[in-house]
Amino acid sequence: MGNSHGHRSRAFSRQSTSSEQSNTTIPYRSQSVRVTACRLPSSNSSTDSEPNNNQPINGKSNSVSSADHDVLQVAQRCVAPIKQRKEAVQQSWSVLLSLSGDITQIGLGIYQKIFEAAPDLRAVFSVPEHVHDLQSYPDFHRSGKLFVSVIDLCVRSIHSLDSDMGPILVMYGRRHFHRQEQGFRIQYLPLFENCMIEYIVENLPDEEKTNEAVIGWNNLIKYICGKLAEGFQLERMRNAHIRRKSVL
Ligand code: HEM
Repeated sequence: MGNSHGHRSRAFSRQSTSSEQSNTTIPYRSQSVRVTACRLPSSNSSTDSEPNNNQPINGKSNSVSSADHDVLQVAQRCVAPIKQRKEAVQQSWSVLLSLSGDITQIGLGIYQKIFEAAPDLRAVFSVPEHVHDLQSYPDFHRSGKLFVSVIDLCVRSIHSLDSDMGPILVMYGRRHFHRQEQGFRIQYLPLFENCMIEYIVENLPDEEKTNEAVIGWNNLIKYICGKLAEGFQLERMRNAHIRRKSVL
């Protein structure tokens, strides 16, 4: 879809009045910044005051290697959005879907951003160099659709996210551990996270770009990436355990 909705919303300059937002400083421009490099954000980039933020998931921040620490930083940000935000996310998603036509178009739009920020990733997804517009490359449409179907499922299950989608997202994370030969790197997750948030927020019409929606989207996408990172880490530990056992 085009950029007709890409201009800034007045909703961003509005002061938050609800108590749940009073200690939340995100929104969009401070959190979902232009993506220029694939770096993990710093640990204080959390956007919510709900439990579990900025707490090491194993409670021992000093006992992990720096690679593990990077993974844990992403995993620890699994914060399910609260009720008004959940409803704003569902409402804005249905608007975005109706404006986009289908979920594939949203997937292609997000990947377009990802590939612009990290052209090396085109090879990981077998997108030839000469292809500039993913719309005109049907071979990639299935990947775009599968990718966004994860977001779509999460939005549908948003009121029971942890029980319905938590294990599925962890399973995807486990599967991505085995995609490292294909080019998966945990370090790319923040890039995916930023591109998803940016694309969604940029393409929402102004009236849907409320603080609740923007904060809700930030939290939901962070939750998805956090669970993926968790699954990746679990699978990494399981594999290390199997390898250790096999040499005994
Ligand atoms: C929020 C982040 C991500 C989500 C929700 C996600 C989701 C998915 C899904 C649903 C599939 C297809 C099902 C499967 O085979 O497991 C898939 C496949 C794949 N993912 Fe991811 N993924 C994410 C991040 C990444 C990243 C960061 C990379 C690489 C840097 C990556 C690389 C791949 C590859 C190479 C495939 C197989 C090719 C394809 O089906 O397009 N993914 N991903």
